[in-house]
Amino acid sequence: MPLDLDVVRARFPALADGVAYFDNAGGSLVLASVAERVAEYLLTSSVQTGATYAASELAAARLLEARTKIARLINAARPEEIVLNASTTINLRFLATAMASRLAPGDEIVVTAFDHESNIGPWRGLAERGVVIRTWALDPETLEPDLDALDRLMTDRTRLVAVTHASNILGGILPVRAIADLVHARGAEICVDGVALAPHRAVDVRKLDVDYYAFSFYKTYGPHFAVLYGRHEKLLELDGLYHYFYGKEKVPAKLEPGNTNYELAWGTTAIVDYLDDLGGGTGDHAAIEKAFGLIADHEAVIGGRLLDFLGSRNDVRIVGSRSVDPASRVPTVSFKVDGHDSAAVVGAVDADRIGIRYGDFASRRLVESLGLAPGNGVIRASMVHYNTVDEVDRLIAALERALG
Ligand SMILES: Cc1ncc(COP(=O)(O)O)c(C=O)c1O
Repeated sequence: MPLDLDVVRARFPALADGVAYFDNAGGSLVLASVAERVAEYLLTSSVQTGATYAASELAAARLLEARTKIARLINAARPEEIVLNASTTINLRFLATAMASRLAPGDEIVVTAFDHESNIGPWRGLAERGVVIRTWALDPETLEPDLDALDRLMTDRTRLVAVTHASNILGGILPVRAIADLVHARGAEICVDGVALAPHRAVDVRKLDVDYYAFSFYKTYGPHFAVLYGRHEKLLELDGLYHYFYGKEKVPAKLEPGNTNYELAWGTTAIVDYLDDLGGGTGDHAAIEKAFGLIADHEAVIGGRLLDFLGSRNDVRIVGSRSVDPASRVPTVSFKVDGHDSAAVVGAVDADRIGIRYGDFASRRLVESLGLAPGNGVIRASMVHYNTVDEVDRLIAALERALG
């Protein structure tokens, strides 16, 4: 059975406004059930956890359930591996800060030249402590990562490799398991930014064998809130960022200074339930995999339609692959148009009640290195599973009008 789009779209009330939303890699729409659960938390258990009265116990139980469900979403081994903070930017900044005291001058970290800045800047900042930063760039011809090039960058001083799971510009999916194997064989850790992948494909942190994995719920049908997965033994080694009397063993709370946001944590449980429903309701990671299988098939159809149109025009340069293979691409599609400023194209499309956008999307190093910054960067149309073929056709018609 293919994805039932009527069922899917009914879960997102904002779609009723008739706008075609193609800025999902910027932020997705929110499930009604997420909003309802946030309200439920606020109206029935909005007290501080850790006390012995009933409402406080309920609040703590809901927080634990949230961590447990998010662990199931990504197949983490235990709820203590789920660190919850406001954003991926904050989670990765916290991670780099909590790791800093273990790094000695001369230790090395590999960052990429193609990640979102959230998974570059915090690591680059460690150069102030004498950490040597090496940069892994894409092959400029193929726009594909070259694992041999990564291997050559690593030495016996490499402590960590920070890399994205999918590019928020190119849409290409990286072979994270193969990268993790390489990184571990060299005795280093791997930190993966999954923000651009998690709305589209099932994440299985154990299958990927990653040490750290981060993504944001506001791009995954939920609220402005984010998860950092860390392998339990790795989290235990990190410095705490909370009060001095929070011991190192207080995982994950030592990495959530000031406490996490309880109502948003409770809200995110509805994302897991939604995916579970789509995947047959078995309440395990297999249901999540099944849901994302349906999502991937539908995304290949809508993504392929836009890529075919863009590929048919001589004046359009697709920035990324033209493949629709769900294993190698998500439907985040960036492009440039000859002789057209990207902002002007987006402005013309806005008038048709279609949401796309332009810029570098904080992957500035990538956009600049590809020479794509002049003319207001790239145009990006980022689809998710609730988008329809009709909406894509509206976008195509609007682009045809705008480009002439
Ligand atoms: C690939 C990628 N990584 C990281 C981020 C940062 O996420 P957050 O806004 O939760 O800090 C974004 C946001 O656009 C992103 O697209």
